[in-house]
Amino acid sequence: MSSSLVSPHGGSLVNRLVDEGQAQTLRSEAQSLPKIELSAKQACDLEMIAIGAFSPLTGFVKEADFRGICTDMRLADGTLWPIPATLAIEDDVKATLTVGGRAALHHSDGTLLAVIDVEEIYAHDRDIELPGVFRTSDPSHPGVAQVLAEGDWLVGGTVHVITVVPEHEPGEQFTEYRLTPAETRAEFAARGWSSVAAFQTRNPIHRAHEYLCKCAQEICDGLLIHPLVGETKEGDIPADVRMQCYETIIDHYFVADRTCLSVMPAAMRYAGPREAILHALVRQNYGASHFIVGRDHAGVGDYYGTYDAQEIFDTLKAGDIEVVPLKFEHAAWSHKAQGMVSAKTFPKLEGDQVFLSGTKVRALLAEGQRPPAEFSRPEVADVLIEWATATATAAS
Ligand code: ADX
Repeated sequence: MSSSLVSPHGGSLVNRLVDEGQAQTLRSEAQSLPKIELSAKQACDLEMIAIGAFSPLTGFVKEADFRGICTDMRLADGTLWPIPATLAIEDDVKATLTVGGRAALHHSDGTLLAVIDVEEIYAHDRDIELPGVFRTSDPSHPGVAQVLAEGDWLVGGTVHVITVVPEHEPGEQFTEYRLTPAETRAEFAARGWSSVAAFQTRNPIHRAHEYLCKCAQEICDGLLIHPLVGETKEGDIPADVRMQCYETIIDHYFVADRTCLSVMPAAMRYAGPREAILHALVRQNYGASHFIVGRDHAGVGDYYGTYDAQEIFDTLKAGDIEVVPLKFEHAAWSHKAQGMVSAKTFPKLEGDQVFLSGTKVRALLAEGQRPPAEFSRPEVADVLIEWATATATAAS
């Protein structure tokens, strides 16, 4: 079967992973280079750049791109890009670097990951980054807090990536699901899919998520369930537990021929609207033609309005982005309808719908209680309860 997939953002897929011969040369060069130890977020960004998920970025952003992204949501050449991939460093590291030279990028476990061309070192201007990217400078926002904790200098330059797999950290997981954009595109082509809806999540798949996925499946050839497994905030359910939930729900409630599961190794920023654009562009790179955006996508607390992450797509210019956002209203179980509904599909009746937040569900789990069937499929609830019980036992 032939299939024609959406183009990568910026026209072609980047690949910054070097071959084994170049890797050998870089390994010996790196021994005499200044060393930068990457934070978890930076290591995630490096992987996203390396595999082409952040195409057209080929490295950590330089100043003109940083400023363009923060103020206008665009790279210096006008290409849409919402969140900068920054390599922030402290004064003491800056003192070891030379502009025009190179530096070795290491994982926190010591693994040599890459070499960067130190093309620029510039001041980390949080005064444009925070309001631009997060719409707030409140240190209680987890994405803002992370930027505030980073170094005062940014290094911009192209990366030459030796590996994205840390040697010593057990965190490198889900290998069979860790497909690059080129690999997911090949998978879609092999399945004969042209239109693919991608579903971003950092939670187990609950009934509302499943409903959005099924609606999208009705109008696309296939569905890519694409959980984010990079850095998330304290309190989010760990990625390995979520992967068990995804496998379980796919086994029991999805059609295998129409459903693909792979992971996205990005870090969460909780930047709401801007992150929804990033999530969509990245999925375009992975070959998705459509991208699901529900309520409060990539939001946290009360920083963003329920549909801000949908409305931001209406501000884009023609040609900015090829992937089509599939916008969904807040969905919930209705006792009267005996199914999932939204304000678009079913009248609001007093006390009829079951609204449960992720926070509330985590609280239930912490007390050893199963999330109700209106919220979670029983097989998924089993996985969650088992994890919550094991966590509680380990803590006592
Ligand atoms: S997110 O940070 O990845 O956005 P989450 O995993 O909760 O968090 O959400 C995944 C996707 O489902 C997002 O597009 C989100 O907007 C959407 N979503 C989550 N819950 C609902 C709901 N009850 N109704 C509609 N959309 C929802």
